[in-house]
Amino acid sequence: MDTNLDLSCTLVIFGATGDLTHRKLLPAIYNLQYQRLLPEAFSIMAIGRKDKTSNTYREEAYKAVKKFSRFPMEEEVWKDISHKIYYESMNFLEKEGYIELQKRLQIIDEKHHTKGNKIYYMAVAPEYFQHIIDALHKHVINKEEKSWRRIVIEKPFGRDLESAKYLNSKIVEVFQEKNTYRIDHYLGKEMLQNIMVLRFANMFFEPLWNSKYIDNIQISSSERVGVENRGGYYEKAGAMRDMVQSHMLQLVSLIGMEPPNDLDTESIRNEKVKVLKALKKITQEDVQENTVRGQYGPGQLGGESFLGYREEERVSVTSDTETYVALRVFIENFRWAGVPFYIRTGKRMPQKSTEIIIQFKSIENILYFKEKILQPNLLVIRIQPREGVFFRFNAKEPGTQQKIIPVQMDFCQNCQLDINSPEAYERLLYDVMRGDSTLFARWDEVEYSWRFVDSILEGWKKQKPVFPNYEAGTWGPKETDLLLQKDKRGWINI
Ligand SMILES: NC(=O)c1ccc[n+]([C@@H]2O[C@H](COP(=O)([O-])OP(=O)(O)OC[C@H]3O[C@@H](n4cnc5c(N)ncnc54)[C@H](OP(=O)(O)O)[C@@H]3O)[C@@H](O)[C@H]2O)c1
Repeated sequence: MDTNLDLSCTLVIFGATGDLTHRKLLPAIYNLQYQRLLPEAFSIMAIGRKDKTSNTYREEAYKAVKKFSRFPMEEEVWKDISHKIYYESMNFLEKEGYIELQKRLQIIDEKHHTKGNKIYYMAVAPEYFQHIIDALHKHVINKEEKSWRRIVIEKPFGRDLESAKYLNSKIVEVFQEKNTYRIDHYLGKEMLQNIMVLRFANMFFEPLWNSKYIDNIQISSSERVGVENRGGYYEKAGAMRDMVQSHMLQLVSLIGMEPPNDLDTESIRNEKVKVLKALKKITQEDVQENTVRGQYGPGQLGGESFLGYREEERVSVTSDTETYVALRVFIENFRWAGVPFYIRTGKRMPQKSTEIIIQFKSIENILYFKEKILQPNLLVIRIQPREGVFFRFNAKEPGTQQKIIPVQMDFCQNCQLDINSPEAYERLLYDVMRGDSTLFARWDEVEYSWRFVDSILEGWKKQKPVFPNYEAGTWGPKETDLLLQKDKRGWINI
């Protein structure tokens, strides 16, 4: 890590009274301060609509940090950061607020010697992105000189290719691509960063990482929760836009990419985008064959009863929004020809988990078990909540008979008490300060993800879904199994 970088800056958070700021951003900032990673010349301008003083905001921030931080609250650490936090109340839609904001930013900048450098963090609903960027341009940024400015934009980046393109065109009027950080917090997760290391720093994986040795890849991300209080947002998004367009396709690109020439940001992104470009388009004609969508109805889990999606707050009683998606995806290139990537993600599943299963081809039954099939080797990369790697291979069962059984090696990274993995937002915020955008999506990655997703969404429009089609607390619609059974395969549940 380059410790000579000048990180002096003001972090301007739009949406600072919201859920994301309280649960993720403020704890991340505190954790960075705890590790002495924040520069002395640092300040935070927290912006919300509610009327309150900086002191009241600091008290709220203290409570949020105490509740959500991975490091314990230490008063000395908090004292070092709290006096650098300021609150500004404004309405995003009114220009007066921006004029006032510009003046306050100048004062804070001088007080904390942050050299005019700014990170503008959009922790707001997507419909505000454009408006804030335009107003910032007109009333704040035009008045800034000799400083760097970066924008962090939360997902979803648009709701289809067209709107994403338009949003991007607005951003590039104000921010250079290298200063645009499209955040996908999955990319900040420890095990995700570990995928490249596992693949490219170990001799025994990479030579087998292709269609000759791999039978199929299964990427599953399940959530136990429903839409919680985000029904309004989710109604416009659904699992496809919320999860597949960003997180799931990012996982596919990391698993599928070629080794980059070096570890430079652009070299890595160049390889990732090649995978997204090579995704075989799912057209209206084959959408039924390659996709399954679902929506949860009422159900029970562990003695608890759950509402169906249509009964949730701010959700239409006739909603056709999908809370579950499963896909059969192919990457059309030399390495992956014919290897299906099965993807599934859903809400109100029995447990929260994200994992990638690489199933190797079965070995020819020449030496052992001519009459019985050997279990194929599996490599499982566990992203959350457990972080680690699981490997299944065949071995002889101890005893006098020649019996072969599958055995396992299970490496759990975060089970060891002394490993407290950094939260994704902590890593990502620090990267923005350092100007490292490797773990953020470049525009063309977003563009090609939308191209792929748009085509499926278009195909779905042709047929009205029969929802709800799975009970809350179960593993999704039964059609999901058929998706693999057609290929004479099944989902692997470790
Ligand atoms: N929450 C998460 O875990 C999460 C995870 C991933 C991505 N995201 C994304 O992060 C963004 C923020 O989500 P969130 O859950 O934090 O939303 P939220 O809890 O609804 O917070 C929205 C924030 O925007 C402010 N706001 C709304 N309208 C405003 C206006 N006209 N003028 C000024 N301020 C206004 C609110 O201020 P007041 O409260 O003062 O009204 C609040 O600070 C969204 O794009 C979301 O998709 C969130």
